[in-house]
Amino acid sequence: MLKRKDLLGLIDASEAEITEILDLAQDFKNRIKRGEKKMNYLDGKTVTVLFYENSTRTRTSFEQAAKYLGATTVNIQAGTSSVAKGETLVDTGKTLDAQRNDFIVMRHPMGGAPYLLAKTVKAGVLNAGDGINEHPTQALLDMLTMRETFGSLKGLKVAILGDIKHSRVAKSNLFGLKTMGAEVAMFAPQTLIPTGLDKLGAKICASREEALDGADVVMGLRIQLERQKAGNFPSLGEYAANYGVNESHLALAKPHAIILHPGPVNRGVELTSGVIDHDRSRIEDQVLSGVAVRMAALTLLNEYRKEQGL
Ligand code: CP
Repeated sequence: MLKRKDLLGLIDASEAEITEILDLAQDFKNRIKRGEKKMNYLDGKTVTVLFYENSTRTRTSFEQAAKYLGATTVNIQAGTSSVAKGETLVDTGKTLDAQRNDFIVMRHPMGGAPYLLAKTVKAGVLNAGDGINEHPTQALLDMLTMRETFGSLKGLKVAILGDIKHSRVAKSNLFGLKTMGAEVAMFAPQTLIPTGLDKLGAKICASREEALDGADVVMGLRIQLERQKAGNFPSLGEYAANYGVNESHLALAKPHAIILHPGPVNRGVELTSGVIDHDRSRIEDQVLSGVAVRMAALTLLNEYRKEQGL
């Protein structure tokens, strides 16, 4: 049972907790596919979505998830709030608590910011991406799409290629997939691989071929130009030629291999358009998994709040 006030990362999530979230998310996904959009597990609750960074998928899917569950949603863009006048995160949190928010979904450019907020507020906090640290619901939705395709995560080889250094998605996937018994192979220019990932269980590959060989899942990650100055690789064109994945590279993976990308995609950089739009691409399915996983996370955290009388 998910016995947590907050969902901040997968670094300490157990196999049982991840399985519980994925099982419920699968049920929600099936129901959404059947056209259900009113599942009132969060009736009377308020979910505030507080984003200090841009987003399309995560923000909208959290809002959609909360609405499908019957909650009231409030959307705060940091640029148009009192944050722009210098209000601290802790004071923003206290304000949202005083308004009796039940959940705060936060994206923040600083790693660890959701941990600080969670310590400050009574509301449950869900990390929607903190700097280059973690993006737990993204990894959970990736795992949902993988598990739905293959039936289990145990023994899968997941090849992750792209900007691993600046990727919170890579880290949350590494933590979650290793806990669930998958192999995680990573490949990027040396300058985009942080030190120590091998000690956390990643297999750091010397070539694109080694990473893709026998992979069940090929995951591209966006080159995050907003988080780095020039210098990690010569040019986007050279990155694409030497580190990107095209259709001929896919032949190295297993014939049933699926293609994932958290989005947004730099078309023609980490993956070619032929790969993004390939019939084995599950990038659009990931988006639906995102709504379902966020519904599951909110529902399970709410069950814990009810148990605790919060
Ligand atoms: N995958 C992801 O986090 O996308 P957004 O930045 O659009 O939310």
